[in-house]
Amino acid sequence: MMTKYQYCTHQGGSLDDTCKAATKSLGACPLHLSTFDLTRYGIVISGQAYQSVPQVLLEVDGDNITPLP
Ligand code: FES
Repeated sequence: MMTKYQYCTHQGGSLDDTCKAATKSLGACPLHLSTFDLTRYGIVISGQAYQSVPQVLLEVDGDNITPLP
């Protein structure tokens, strides 16, 4: 399982509730409208951000969810 960082890599705008299943994208960031491609490791699609959103691998064991190093 993988999760995405919840803040924009440009200036930290909140990306909460911006995940779009139809386009498999994250954003647009409410501050400067960057969007990120969730099918290609969170790379920037558009906007002022130039770094991908970080990804965190998670191990799921029943009800326990643990970030992997
Ligand atoms: S803080 Fe997200 S695009 Fe600027």
